[in-house]
Amino acid sequence: MNDLESIVAAAKAEFAACGDPPALENAKARFLGKGGTLTLALKGLRELGGDARAARGAAINVAKSEVEAALSARREALAEAKLASQLASEALDVSLPGRGMPAGSLHPLTRTVERIETLFHSLGFAIADGPEIEDDFHNFTALNTPENHPARSMHDTFYVEGGMVLRTHTSPVQVRWMETHAPPIRIIAPGRVYRVDSDATHSPMFHQVEGLWIGDDVSFADLKGVFREFLRHFFERDDLALRFRPSFFPFTEPSAEVDMRFGDGGWLEIAGCGQVHPNVLRMAGIDPERWQGVAFGMGPDRLAMLRYGVDDLRLFYENDLRFLAQFA
Ligand code: PHE
Repeated sequence: MNDLESIVAAAKAEFAACGDPPALENAKARFLGKGGTLTLALKGLRELGGDARAARGAAINVAKSEVEAALSARREALAEAKLASQLASEALDVSLPGRGMPAGSLHPLTRTVERIETLFHSLGFAIADGPEIEDDFHNFTALNTPENHPARSMHDTFYVEGGMVLRTHTSPVQVRWMETHAPPIRIIAPGRVYRVDSDATHSPMFHQVEGLWIGDDVSFADLKGVFREFLRHFFERDDLALRFRPSFFPFTEPSAEVDMRFGDGGWLEIAGCGQVHPNVLRMAGIDPERWQGVAFGMGPDRLAMLRYGVDDLRLFYENDLRFLAQFA
């Protein structure tokens, strides 16, 4: 084997031993780089003359192209190997089962409010809405609440900037509706309300559904009838008893609190109600000599507790999926 043949053989062996492109480039430098063995051989031509130089030159060129061919073959082989291993490691197993996207569901309180809306809608009531940040006039004054009434105290009501309050009940919606609609009126107003209060049966934010029914001669008897009908459908049972207990609200006269029980169970307060106070009608621009009506405010959170048998109201607000998923 002459010197050129052994250079080619050495180059092929070294290239083959290179496991990655940087190693291959280093090996290439040893043969084809500035101080590489083939480059040096070319430089050696200077010392030769005539035919010997031509023959040697041709032989070196042959050797050089063999080395270059070996180099590019190895480059391709390395690139292919890299691609193959990438493909293997990033391969998608299309037969794996999917991760799954569990279907969401409505919050039990949302379902309860929607159920109440549907039932009252079927009884001829429209659904009304109002702001949660309310002014003092609509939350208190227009509802005949005196300046010194305890509900106005900072202990019970969240005050925000500019004399506004977080509405303490949904009753201001009945005022807003009466200001903008002439009787006859038949609405319910579901929504969030706020009070400084927190224990197993009270949350600082809770829900109410206000009802207002004004007509020619709408009486307490009508209120009782509608309420009983609603509850019978809401709870889907006929063994519920209702009790209207005399009470006081500034905006109704007479007023009552509604207690309910199933079978032999205990009484539970679920709503306040009454005959709309003439002052409230008058302040909203409705003639109390011409029109009369009833109003009620119930707690859908309480109704949801009863319907689902939940004994701590706060569970509804903790967003624990283990609890919420039971209602899906
Ligand atoms: N707004 C009253 C409350 O929050 C409930 C109520 C509404 C009572 C309408 C009578 C009539 O307690």
